[in-house]
Amino acid sequence: MGAILVTGAGRGIGRGIALELARAGKVVAIHYNGNREAAHATAKECESAADGAACSVFQADISNADDRARLVNEVVAAYGAIDGLVNNAGIAPRRRDDIIAADEEIFNEVMRVNLSGPYFLTQLVARRWLERDAPRQQTQRIVFVTSISATMVSTSRGEYCVSKAGLAMGAALFAARLAPEGIFVYEVRPGITKTDMTAGVTDKYDRLIADGLVPQGRWGFPEDTGRVVRSIMDGHLDFSPGSVIYTDGGLHIPRL
Ligand SMILES: NC(=O)c1ccc[n+]([C@@H]2O[C@H](COP(=O)([O-])OP(=O)(O)OC[C@H]3O[C@@H](n4cnc5c(N)ncnc54)[C@H](OP(=O)(O)O)[C@@H]3O)[C@@H](O)[C@H]2O)c1
Repeated sequence: MGAILVTGAGRGIGRGIALELARAGKVVAIHYNGNREAAHATAKECESAADGAACSVFQADISNADDRARLVNEVVAAYGAIDGLVNNAGIAPRRRDDIIAADEEIFNEVMRVNLSGPYFLTQLVARRWLERDAPRQQTQRIVFVTSISATMVSTSRGEYCVSKAGLAMGAALFAARLAPEGIFVYEVRPGITKTDMTAGVTDKYDRLIADGLVPQGRWGFPEDTGRVVRSIMDGHLDFSPGSVIYTDGGLHIPRL
């Protein structure tokens, strides 16, 4: 059995995804960038959830082409194959600035990590499946974790919104291209989720949620997204490639 590669799996939503996949008996390749210890802690938890199946950790800067190629090679070398891919790693802009003042370097940094990274990692993995797996042995699945920000504007972090809108199109493109090949691609779109990414704006979101912004009236947690990705990887959505699944407590519902 190969592994499901989850990017950014050491913490936050990626960790929630890795744990849910492990609970479903999957072998998970835990990817991280800078937080090695967190990745090893996630791997340990996954191993106990998955009855001791080895869950190794792999480092790569997803924005770097050489790192992406090395990551794929290392996971294949460790497990024989990549069975699925979850593009979860992503960043918020280093600084929130009004789009009128925002900085081009920060814009480019966010694009490289949030858009080019998962786009070209998906290309690499899909290429390998198409070149090496013919005739296709099994159904393979890819998930893009985008954000409610793919459609909801935040004028103080425009680059993030643009990156996620672009990635949503990337998910649709790969879904259309790969469905005929038996590779199913999905977009999962979280809303306001309690992780390190939102730690600096907890008070703001607490207030907004208390004021009714989220119909379900609560924060999202990594396991909310983890359970959806688990259903996808278990094949429950195999006739639904290209779907956008919200994990946002109803935040996206337009209301009067
Ligand atoms: N939290 C939210 O409210 C929310 C809402 C909607 C969508 N999302 C999306 O969900 C995903 C996970 O977010 P999160 O809230 O869990 O964030 P987080 O807690 O800040 O974790 C970010 C993850 O991305 C990895 N990462 C960052 N830069 C990277 C790079 N250059 N190369 C490879 N990996 C990198 C980090 O790895 P290290 O730990 O090793 O640095 C970490 O695992 C992101 O795509 C985010 O945009 C989050």
